[in-house]
Amino acid sequence: MDYKNKTVWITGASSGIGKELAIQFAALGANVILSARSVDKLNELKQSLHGDGHLIVPLDLSAPEAVLAQVTDLLDTLPAIDILINNGGVSQRSLFLENEFNVYRQLMEVNYFGLIALTKAVAPTMVERRRGSIVSISSVAGKVGSKFRTGYSGSKYAVVGFMDCLRAELAEHNIHCLTICPGSIKTAIAHNSLNEQGIAQNKPEHSIENGMDVSVAAKKMIHAIHNKKDEVIVGKGLSGLAPTIKRFFPRLFNRLTAKTNYR
Ligand SMILES: NC(=O)c1ccc[n+]([C@@H]2O[C@H](COP(=O)([O-])OP(=O)(O)OC[C@H]3O[C@@H](n4cnc5c(N)ncnc54)[C@H](OP(=O)(O)O)[C@@H]3O)[C@@H](O)[C@H]2O)c1
Repeated sequence: MDYKNKTVWITGASSGIGKELAIQFAALGANVILSARSVDKLNELKQSLHGDGHLIVPLDLSAPEAVLAQVTDLLDTLPAIDILINNGGVSQRSLFLENEFNVYRQLMEVNYFGLIALTKAVAPTMVERRRGSIVSISSVAGKVGSKFRTGYSGSKYAVVGFMDCLRAELAEHNIHCLTICPGSIKTAIAHNSLNEQGIAQNKPEHSIENGMDVSVAAKKMIHAIHNKKDEVIVGKGLSGLAPTIKRFFPRLFNRLTAKTNYR
């Protein structure tokens, strides 16, 4: 795979999956645009990457209208985007009956509206060139529900629906749209997950700690991008199999889910 002279824009590049995608795309010769809120971490990452054509665009996805305005203004100064990876996101570990309403708003702003805002700014440039890939990281939680995820799952199901419709609309413009649904991947996601007050819970979780290694996951994701897949699930064990189990044994799956605490 040779990505020399290709530009890949990655949100959530300061940590976990986004950081690893940046490292691997840069190693394949791509120029990467790194976005997140933590500019120090992005600077550190940029210094460490293979190659020197990388850029940093700080973005706060929780303010989607500002993202749309900021990126629209900036596009003329950036190289043409070949691959947009909507990866930045936040999860949740809290029960519906205990959640403040604001938790739902926060999750939708970052995981759904923020993703739409950046896509809305970048997609027209791809349509104009009749080339490009739009990749959104949803989740296995965008395919199946489980306890403690009412807001997160809702936002990730929304991403799956958005991407299915976008794929249909952009096919005639030759734009590739891929939805990636990771299962448990070993990153800081559990630490950063919102509690019932909408604050990072700051503690680990067994299923994430024992999840797929992030470098293995990123490699599989790049493979799916390269092969122009429509949708892939990336995960090991039950977290990867859950959508298939639910599809063929929905009642059994729902009963098991009600008894399982992934927290
Ligand atoms: N790890 C898993 O098991 C798993 C499973 C399914 C789906 N996913 C999805 O994969 C994506 C990456 O997650 P991860 O596992 O790599 O988690 P992570 O290590 O917590 O990284 C999350 C990234 O999103 C960025 N982000 C969070 N809030 C943001 C905001 N308001 N504005 C801009 N950027 C923001 C963070 O950067 P800053 O804090 O610097 O802004 C960070 O770079 C997420 O969409 C997540 O839902 C992960």
